[in-house]
Amino acid sequence: MKIFIINGPNLDMLGLREPEIYGADTMESINREIAEYCKGVGVEPEFYQSNSEGGLIDIIHSARGNADGIVINAGAYTHYSIAIRDAIAAVELPCVEVHLSNVHKREEFRHKSMLSAVCTGVICGFGKKVYRLAIDALSL
Ligand code: DQA
Repeated sequence: MKIFIINGPNLDMLGLREPEIYGADTMESINREIAEYCKGVGVEPEFYQSNSEGGLIDIIHSARGNADGIVINAGAYTHYSIAIRDAIAAVELPCVEVHLSNVHKREEFRHKSMLSAVCTGVICGFGKKVYRLAIDALSL
């Protein structure tokens, strides 16, 4: 089973960016841990990151026919990108929306997600574990 792990804007800054909210791990080290975990559960992960909306849309489109599922942390685009929502709907793949932080405990503008309604499910608030939980949700 192949799963695309897609990260959006500013997530390439993990480790440096507001570590009290997002943790001290870099995206590189989180991805290494995910890859290690995937080996044990028979999942083939492919990792992508883009800071731009169009870049994320192109990655989501490329999942169609190439992946069995998607795990996406769309960062701030989550809260206002109808285009990313439409891309997820278009590819007709199981998709899990994840957030490292519990967005519902934070500013009100983070409570709304454009993506949740077209995703299979949502996992947030468990730090880097959200990626592993989402992989389990898609593969078990
Ligand atoms: C985030 C939450 C978003 O509100 C924020 O804009 C991010 C990261 C998270 O992983 O907690 O960039 O998606």
